[in-house]
Amino acid sequence: MNILVLNGPNLNLLGTREPEIYGYTTLEDINNNLVRNYPQVNITFKQSNSESELITWIGDSPKNFSGILINPAALTHTSLGLYDALKAISNKIPAIEIHLSNTYSREEIRHKSLTAGACVGQIMGFQENSYDLGMSAIIKLLNANAG
Ligand code: DQA
Repeated sequence: MNILVLNGPNLNLLGTREPEIYGYTTLEDINNNLVRNYPQVNITFKQSNSESELITWIGDSPKNFSGILINPAALTHTSLGLYDALKAISNKIPAIEIHLSNTYSREEIRHKSLTAGACVGQIMGFQENSYDLGMSAIIKLLNANAG
């Protein structure tokens, strides 16, 4: 099972970025935890601050991956292009949207996700554990689809 874990703008700064909201765990820590907790999965990690790079990676993903975990970060709330990219591949591979924070408990501008509608589901509010829960969910989904 090959899973792509995509992270959007500013998530490279986790650990020092607004730790009262996002915690002190770095993106590298999150990635290492996933590798340790899911040795049965072949995981590829990509992070970009560029919307166009993320769109290209999503479009190419069905060639190499059976599912995507994506934290689109601020692009969640703004990017129709990212929604269209996820929608374009949604008939081939599933995506699950991840957020560290509970965006519904924050500023109103974060209450709307443009991208979630192109994903199978959304996991948010569990800090770094959101990624772990997302990985567990996508593995179960893919196993159910295969069986
Ligand atoms: C975030 C929530 C977004 O609103 C924010 O722009 C981020 C991180 C989260 O993981 O909680 O960059 O996606």
